Amino acid sequence: MSEFKDKVIWITGASSGIGEALALEFARQEARLILSARREDELKRVGALTKLPELDLMLLPFDLSDTKNASGLAAQIMNKFGRIDILINNGGYSQRSEAIETPIEIDRQLMEVNYFSYVALTKAVLPYMKRQKGGQIIAISSIAGKFGFYLRSSYSAAKHALHGFYESLRLETESFGIKTMLVCPGKIKTNVSFNAVTANGKTHNKMDESHENAMSADECARQIIKGIRNNKEEIFIGGKEILMINIRRFFPKLFSKLLRKQSPY
Ligand SMILES: NC(=O)c1ccc[n+]([C@@H]2O[C@H](COP(=O)([O-])OP(=O)(O)OC[C@H]3O[C@@H](n4cnc5c(N)ncnc54)[C@H](OP(=O)(O)O)[C@@H]3O)[C@@H](O)[C@H]2O)c1
Repeated sequence: MSEFKDKVIWITGASSGIGEALALEFARQEARLILSARREDELKRVGALTKLPELDLMLLPFDLSDTKNASGLAAQIMNKFGRIDILINNGGYSQRSEAIETPIEIDRQLMEVNYFSYVALTKAVLPYMKRQKGGQIIAISSIAGKFGFYLRSSYSAAKHALHGFYESLRLETESFGIKTMLVCPGKIKTNVSFNAVTANGKTHNKMDESHENAMSADECARQIIKGIRNNKEEIFIGGKEILMINIRRFFPKLFSKLLRKQSPY
């Protein structure tokens, strides 16, 4: 029997990519799921694919750029399931624009969705997890949360901010049995580059070459679930791009040279 059987798991960004793959894998392991994203029709599609009975499934659509009602959303989940075991903050979008050309409103929006929404949902579930004396909070960061990259200034900043927040939170909440994991994917084959914002506010609308042959979202989801099972604090997932983390640590000059040779796409 899976250790996730009957666990109540809230996944944001569940309408596509990594979030969808997580939903399907957790459903196979008989978890009880709350699926969130903006597009209700896509959440219905993913919900149907999970084949979970109504009792074990809740679709909770909302926009991560407006989380004023985060505690209301958590209360709705508590009303139906009576507990929240795992929150996976995964929803978000990337950037393909130079800092100099990017209007500040776009920078602020990137921070709102990719950082502040994670903080808001986390604060909404923490009182319940504290009362339950346990829970797990996962934040999907990126290798861009470890080092800056071309055309990613505010996306990378938002992902870096997650590390500061969750590393601090971990120390404050582990005595309540609450565990926190930061996930740093490299390149994963999803719609992330299609949905990335450009300087004019429109989406990039292209699959980046580096994502074409990247790791699948299914494999990424399996590795995230393994990390949750093993109570990891931070994990890196992807192909050879992940090597850059250790290259930076041990050979900073080489890292600096290699970074400049990478294509932004
Ligand atoms: N794929 C990669 O190579 C990669 C690498 C590093 C990190 N990541 C991170 O992985 C996470 C998942 O991305 P993905 O690769 O699976 O991309 P994706 O296929 O584009 O999925 C993004 C998800 O986030 C949701 N979302 C976006 N903006 C939202 C908003 N304002 N409100 C609510 N939901 C919103 C989308 O749903 P709706 O459009 O329906 O709202 C969708 O479900 C992101 O945090 C991303 O930064 C991905």
